[in-house]
Amino acid sequence: VTFTVEDHDGNRQTVEAPDDMGLSLMEVLKASEYPVLATCGGMALCATCHVEILEGEDALGEATDVELDQLENLPEYFPTSRLACQVRISPLLEGAVIKLRGEDN
Ligand code: FES
Repeated sequence: VTFTVEDHDGNRQTVEAPDDMGLSLMEVLKASEYPVLATCGGMALCATCHVEILEGEDALGEATDVELDQLENLPEYFPTSRLACQVRISPLLEGAVIKLRGEDN
Protein backbone atom coordinates (compact mmCIF):
# COMPACT_ATOMS: atom_id res chain seq x y z
CA VAL A 1 0.00 0.00 0.00
CA THR A 2 1.23 3.50 -0.76
CA PHE A 3 0.45 6.62 1.23
CA THR A 4 1.92 10.05 1.89
CA VAL A 5 3.56 11.27 5.08
CA GLU A 6 3.96 14.95 5.92
CA ASP A 7 6.72 15.63 8.43
CA HIS A 8 6.97 18.40 11.01
CA ASP A 9 8.45 20.75 8.41
CA GLY A 10 5.60 20.18 5.98
CA ASN A 11 7.66 18.05 3.60
CA ARG A 12 5.68 15.28 1.98
CA GLN A 13 7.05 11.91 0.98
CA THR A 14 5.48 8.77 -0.37
CA VAL A 15 5.82 5.70 1.82
CA GLU A 16 5.27 2.17 0.62
CA ALA A 17 4.53 -0.56 3.13
CA PRO A 18 3.42 -4.19 3.01
CA ASP A 19 -0.23 -4.42 4.03
CA ASP A 20 -0.32 -8.11 4.84
CA MET A 21 2.12 -8.30 7.73
CA GLY A 22 0.00 -6.87 10.52
CA LEU A 23 2.31 -3.89 10.96
CA SER A 24 1.15 -0.73 12.64
CA LEU A 25 1.52 2.68 11.08
CA MET A 26 3.83 3.59 13.98
CA GLU A 27 6.17 0.71 13.14
CA VAL A 28 6.32 1.71 9.50
CA LEU A 29 6.95 5.37 10.34
CA LYS A 30 9.83 4.40 12.62
CA ALA A 31 11.23 2.03 10.03
CA SER A 32 11.09 4.91 7.54
CA GLU A 33 13.15 6.97 10.01
CA TYR A 34 10.49 9.46 10.93
CA PRO A 35 10.94 10.98 14.39
CA VAL A 36 8.30 9.00 16.26
CA LEU A 37 9.31 8.40 19.86
CA ALA A 38 6.76 5.64 20.56
CA THR A 39 7.94 5.54 24.17
CA CYS A 40 5.33 2.98 25.17
CA GLY A 41 6.18 0.65 22.32
CA GLY A 42 2.74 0.70 20.77
CA MET A 43 0.56 0.16 23.85
CA ALA A 44 -1.59 3.26 23.27
CA LEU A 45 -0.15 4.77 26.45
CA CYS A 46 2.22 7.58 25.47
CA ALA A 47 0.55 9.39 22.54
CA THR A 48 3.96 10.29 21.11
CA CYS A 49 2.87 8.53 17.90
CA HIS A 50 0.11 11.09 17.37
CA VAL A 51 -0.73 11.65 13.70
CA GLU A 52 -3.43 13.57 11.93
CA ILE A 53 -5.11 11.99 8.93
CA LEU A 54 -5.30 14.78 6.35
CA GLU A 55 -6.80 12.66 3.58
CA GLY A 56 -8.37 9.23 3.61
CA GLU A 57 -9.90 9.49 7.08
CA ASP A 58 -13.23 8.11 5.86
CA ALA A 59 -11.69 4.81 4.86
CA LEU A 60 -9.74 4.53 8.11
CA GLY A 61 -12.61 5.33 10.42
CA GLU A 62 -12.47 7.15 13.71
CA ALA A 63 -10.15 6.75 16.63
CA THR A 64 -11.16 4.09 19.14
CA ASP A 65 -12.00 4.95 22.76
CA VAL A 66 -8.55 3.76 23.83
CA GLU A 67 -6.98 6.24 21.44
CA LEU A 68 -9.31 9.05 22.39
CA ASP A 69 -8.41 8.65 26.06
CA GLN A 70 -4.80 9.41 25.16
CA LEU A 71 -5.48 12.05 22.53
CA GLU A 72 -7.69 14.01 24.91
CA ASN A 73 -4.73 14.45 27.26
CA LEU A 74 -2.69 16.19 24.59
CA PRO A 75 -2.49 19.99 24.48
CA GLU A 76 -3.77 19.84 20.91
CA TYR A 77 -5.53 17.21 18.86
CA PHE A 78 -7.71 17.22 15.77
CA PRO A 79 -10.97 15.63 14.62
CA THR A 80 -9.01 13.12 12.54
CA SER A 81 -6.20 12.55 15.03
CA ARG A 82 -5.08 8.95 15.57
CA LEU A 83 -2.41 7.08 17.45
CA ALA A 84 -0.23 5.61 14.72
CA CYS A 85 0.41 2.50 16.83
CA GLN A 86 -3.29 1.70 16.72
CA VAL A 87 -3.65 2.07 12.95
CA ARG A 88 -3.00 -1.18 11.09
CA ILE A 89 -1.31 -1.01 7.73
CA SER A 90 -4.04 -2.24 5.41
CA PRO A 91 -5.21 -1.51 1.87
CA LEU A 92 -7.49 1.11 3.44
CA LEU A 93 -4.44 3.36 3.76
CA GLU A 94 -4.00 3.58 -0.01
CA GLY A 95 -3.69 7.23 -0.98
CA ALA A 96 -4.03 8.52 2.57
CA VAL A 97 -2.10 11.58 3.72
CA ILE A 98 -0.72 11.34 7.24
CA LYS A 99 0.70 14.32 9.13
CA LEU A 100 3.09 13.75 12.02
CA ARG A 101 1.79 15.45 15.13
CA GLY A 102 3.74 13.73 17.87
CA GLU A 103 6.53 15.40 19.78
CA ASP A 104 9.54 16.07 17.67
CA ASN A 105 12.83 14.62 18.89
FE1 FES B 1 2.75 5.00 22.52
FE2 FES B 1 1.40 4.85 20.21
S1 FES B 1 3.44 4.33 20.60
S2 FES B 1 0.72 5.57 22.11
